[in-house]
Amino acid sequence: MPGTCVIGLQWGDEAKGKLVDLLTAQFDIVIRYQGGANAGHTVVVSDQTYKLHHIPSGILNPQVMNVVGPGVVLNPPTLLKEIDMLVERGIKVSDNLMLSDRAHVVLPWHMAEDKAMNEGTADGENIGTTLRGIGPCYRDKVGRSYAVRLGDMLRPDFKQKIARIVDAKRNILSGLAHDGANIDLDATAIYDEYATYAERLRPFVGDTTAYLLDAAEANQRLLFEGAQGALLDVDHGTYPFVTSSNSSGVGISSGSGVPAKWLNTVIGVAKAYSTRVGGGPFPTEQDNEQGQRIRDLGHEYGTTTGRPRRCGWFDAVAVRYTARLSGVDSLSLMMMDVVSQLPEIKVCVAYELDGKRITHFPSHVDDLRRVQPVYETMTGWMTDVTTARKMSDLPGAALQYIQRISELVGRPVGVVSVGPGREQTIFAGT
Ligand code: GDP
Ligand code: IMO
Ligand code: MG
Repeated sequence: MPGTCVIGLQWGDEAKGKLVDLLTAQFDIVIRYQGGANAGHTVVVSDQTYKLHHIPSGILNPQVMNVVGPGVVLNPPTLLKEIDMLVERGIKVSDNLMLSDRAHVVLPWHMAEDKAMNEGTADGENIGTTLRGIGPCYRDKVGRSYAVRLGDMLRPDFKQKIARIVDAKRNILSGLAHDGANIDLDATAIYDEYATYAERLRPFVGDTTAYLLDAAEANQRLLFEGAQGALLDVDHGTYPFVTSSNSSGVGISSGSGVPAKWLNTVIGVAKAYSTRVGGGPFPTEQDNEQGQRIRDLGHEYGTTTGRPRRCGWFDAVAVRYTARLSGVDSLSLMMMDVVSQLPEIKVCVAYELDGKRITHFPSHVDDLRRVQPVYETMTGWMTDVTTARKMSDLPGAALQYIQRISELVGRPVGVVSVGPGREQTIFAGT
């Protein structure tokens, strides 16, 4: 069974990092395959908290290989800081990290473009990106003319490539009206800086596609770590309020180079409520005291940007959609300790659109903006569950809530999380 995948089923930050770290011991290789430094995956081990943006959450286990695949967009200084942070904290990052030479590189102009163009979509609402240059880097990847891959940084003509792109980017940036575009692009300085990064990264760079194909054929156990969440998928999410990669299960093969035939098990990760960072529709949002209460209890502030996350109730219409889209076999339901402190809990079981009850997730953002959630309300159990270690330690009402979510989403719940720690995890059947 080579391939297991961990996919976020909401708008990101579902605690994928915690789950991947927990599962890592059962695998040989952990793979990140899309997204970039927009991701912030938190792993808590005893009193230590690690925030990972680029490096797979398997890195804390020294036995496991960690691969950053071709579909990722890499920011060299951020990645090097992350490597330094891990090494300083005694984590091995020498022969257990491999970066695809095909991965695209985020360069200073991408950050400037992100800032300049984040002002609005075609209909005026701000996407609220992480400003990490993700969209512009993927745009250049697809556009091809101005793209730089990690392998290009190690080639003798890297200096000429930078000079040629800087010339073009100066013109492009001066055409963007906003202040963010006012950066001074000095080709020599950028080359000097990035050539230094290239030398530091050189030992990690290789053909990860060939490596993973060999590994799959040799029956090695692969764990794929999704970034963002399926509702942020560029094709299947709440477009245009999405990220620029396929963050649902459909992106695993294209981003890693591992054919779908090797992917056997998909674990969908969801919070017991919902959060979203940035703009875009969020039908069950509680932009009120209730939402603030969830934010306080769940410490819902962005791992990457520190922004307060928008909070609301569990949306079973949305998660059923993303569980089907991602081919999910079982759910991991996170943050059960947070809802365990609420006197009343709601779950969205359907939407009303134009007076009709619907249970499908609308494909157009304007329709999603207009839906009214239909809620089921449960009385809360108001019990501290952070020390629960088996299903039978949970109050009956909590078990009912988990069962109801499982029914509505149409998938069994395999894992329940009751806190950030590794040990605060309950497996089904216990
Ligand atoms: P990711 O991007 O999906 O990896 O998620 P983030 O790391 O951005 O956000 C999840 C946050 O929730 C992190 O701060 C985790 O340490 C924390 N966390 C994980 N599981 C639980 C849980 O069951 N309960 C609580 N209270 N926090 C959790
Ligand atoms: P992890 O992997 C939550 C959101 C941004 C914005 C939109 C587009 O930690 O779950 P981008 O910078 O990608 O162009 O921003 O996507 N976003 C995330 N939200 N968790 C993430 O990653 C996110 N990565 C991007 O807030 O709404
Ligand atoms: Mg995160």
